[in-house]
Amino acid sequence: MKTTIAEVGKYVGQEVTIGVWLANKRSSGKIAFLQLRDGTGFIQGVVVKAEVEEEIFNKAKSITQETSLYISGIVREDERSPFGYELGITNINVITESVDYPITPKEHGTEFLMDHRHLWLRSKRQHAVMKIRNEIIRSTYEYFNNEGFVKVDPPILTGSAPEGTSELFHTKYFDEDAYLSQSGQLYMEAAAMALGKVFSFGPTFRAEKSKTRRHLIEFWMIEPEMAFYEFEDNLIVQEEYVSFIIQNVLENCSLELNTLGRDVAKLEKIKAPFPRITYDEAIKFLHEKGFTEIKWGDDFGAPHETAIAESYEKPVFITHYPTSLKPFYMQPDPNRDDVVLCADLIAPEGYGEIIGGSERIHNAELLKQRIDEHKLDEKAYEWYLQLRKYGSVPHSGFGLGLERTVAWLSGVEHVRETIPFPRLLNRLYP
Ligand code: 4AD
Ligand code: MG
Repeated sequence: MKTTIAEVGKYVGQEVTIGVWLANKRSSGKIAFLQLRDGTGFIQGVVVKAEVEEEIFNKAKSITQETSLYISGIVREDERSPFGYELGITNINVITESVDYPITPKEHGTEFLMDHRHLWLRSKRQHAVMKIRNEIIRSTYEYFNNEGFVKVDPPILTGSAPEGTSELFHTKYFDEDAYLSQSGQLYMEAAAMALGKVFSFGPTFRAEKSKTRRHLIEFWMIEPEMAFYEFEDNLIVQEEYVSFIIQNVLENCSLELNTLGRDVAKLEKIKAPFPRITYDEAIKFLHEKGFTEIKWGDDFGAPHETAIAESYEKPVFITHYPTSLKPFYMQPDPNRDDVVLCADLIAPEGYGEIIGGSERIHNAELLKQRIDEHKLDEKAYEWYLQLRKYGSVPHSGFGLGLERTVAWLSGVEHVRETIPFPRLLNRLYP
């Protein structure tokens, strides 16, 4: 029976054949343990000299790391392995040999691993992170489909800059100038006026000269946008969505979380509602904690965010930031002109801001005034202003950074491990 590692549980006691690669190997004179992988999972194969033909045992002893094989064996339950099964190997057919595989089971430096990212992806740890990434994407679609959102795909090549002009990737668009999208938000606002509740999932680009564990040059964002949703409504969607994806990762990725050594007790506590503090309260809190240098109007750095997040077991919303710190499109607080109806969601354990969102300005005059204040090219935003001219309504939305969320749920330190081929400040290869 030809099958995959993920499916072996159906064939306990039977002989199966699986296409695999040899991930690792341990052997003595009498027995060989082969760590096998096929993409769907990892399983241990056991070859006992006394139980197979000599040729098969010799093959088991001599095959090298990452050689591809068709392997046959009897599926056995194995309580000692987290996966639950092993293979009593009966036959080995080499497909293609692998000589001098560079990533050996010993420790390697990060730069070496990053140079070999195309191979590093095969490791058990990277496999686990990619599966968790996939589960977050899968449950994102499930959540928004369940809630009646329509998936909309904003363009990647754009003429406008929602998050400010300093971090744009410029390219030629025949005779015109174009930029790689830094957020699909403005287009999602147009889509919300057509379809009510919408979400996007796509790549975004920031020419940010930041070299931190939280910054990528190319990252993927999930951007919901909802007509008739005000500031509060927006926060409720965020806490329910984040709780939903965590629930799904816990349920469907227990093996991967175990591989990564993730402390799942910390994730099990994350259920809506999430705590909220205002920017003003956050400044006061930071002063009390000894961050005396920060003053009202300053943006928070990673150490500030981490200090705030440490007081909570759940992600925390920081709301009502100063208008001067945020993009042009955010709705002012009706009680106070100097802050906007926005929230950043800060993950626990130092993973930083995973969501930025706000209510959007729906008044045409005010929006035009903001575009002028921010010295943006009014022509490029004419279509965006028109959204406010024809039956404008209050609306809100947010953007969740996929890679920071993967890092948090997986418990990996740096976002470079959370995307198949990371684009970093000094890395465009492989
Ligand atoms: O806070 P940001 O810049 O918000 C927006 O782009 C809004 N237009 C979204 C919206 O309201 N539709 O980015 C949103 C999130 C951040 O909270 C963070 O998780 C992630 O995107 N992010 C990054 N992730 C990795 N590398 C970077 N350089 C990132 N910049 C932002
Ligand atoms: Mg932000």
